[in-house]
Amino acid sequence: MPRLRDMLADTRLSPLDFVAPLFVRGGGGAHAAKIPVKSMPGVYQFSVDAAVEELKRLDQLGVGAYILFGVTDAAKKDAVGSYAHHPDNEVCRTLKAAKDAGVGMVAMTDLCYCEYTDHGHCGPLSADGTVKNDETVRRLGEQAVVHAKAGADVMAPSGMMDNMVAGIRGALDAAGFEGKAILSYAVKYASSFYGPFRDAAESPPQFGDRKGYQMDFRRGVEEALKEADIDVGQGADMVMVKPGVPYLDVLRAVSQRVSVPTATYHVSGEYAMIKAAAANGWIDEKGVVLETMHAFKRAGASFVLTYYAGDLAQWLG
Ligand code: PBG
Repeated sequence: MPRLRDMLADTRLSPLDFVAPLFVRGGGGAHAAKIPVKSMPGVYQFSVDAAVEELKRLDQLGVGAYILFGVTDAAKKDAVGSYAHHPDNEVCRTLKAAKDAGVGMVAMTDLCYCEYTDHGHCGPLSADGTVKNDETVRRLGEQAVVHAKAGADVMAPSGMMDNMVAGIRGALDAAGFEGKAILSYAVKYASSFYGPFRDAAESPPQFGDRKGYQMDFRRGVEEALKEADIDVGQGADMVMVKPGVPYLDVLRAVSQRVSVPTATYHVSGEYAMIKAAAANGWIDEKGVVLETMHAFKRAGASFVLTYYAGDLAQWLG
């Protein structure tokens, strides 16, 4: 009996469960308002104006939150990612314009430098090519304050630097932003599933990889628990496990361990695989996506960052 099955469902989805990632890029003039991302059908690099239109649409659908990623023209990139701190960069302008337009979704921002550095790594580098951890943490605090001033509600550091949550919390508090929250990418694996994102954000590392700061997937769940504990201890208001489907065991363990809400990121490669198979008629896209999102909830996710946020809100509406 369908009604009985509905009654007994242990997991239910709501548009509020989802965070929609958006890529915003500057340039104006020659740049189209919406540039499709080749490896992610249905995902775009938006101009600020087009981003606000998309945010209004998602808001009306009842999506819980959005998270902004800046896409930076090569000419504006440098060794330390200075443009990340520019109060009029695309992320800041979008935050302000969305608030002015009355968008009521929670405003989140990704805090990282890979979208702003000319070498594509997540912070300034030492002579040996490794990321300078402590300088990056100090700069992340500054980036968080810039975003907070522009109206971000939640800052999400994604660079896996040691002590990043403590640094950002301290910087926000010192600037009078005690009320702003931190969603830490606490458990983030060095993953091949981020490939399409790096096209979308134009942020591939120009040499090497991110294995020096992101986690090794061959390690067990214990290390993930330790990472989550550290970030919660430093004041993270929410933690994230990333990617999603290949790490359901980790999501389960972390969500049971910590007292703060645990999120997961259904990342670009996971999205691209579903899109490609669906385009070939090999799978039922909606069925696969809904099943995936229920798996996240079953594993303990409080919410999910997903490029399907808008579609999900429509399907659930
Ligand atoms: C930035 C960042 C990445 C993602 C989110 N923030 C890329 C990376 O670490 O290389 C990936 C998200 C996705 O694949 O959808 N550090």
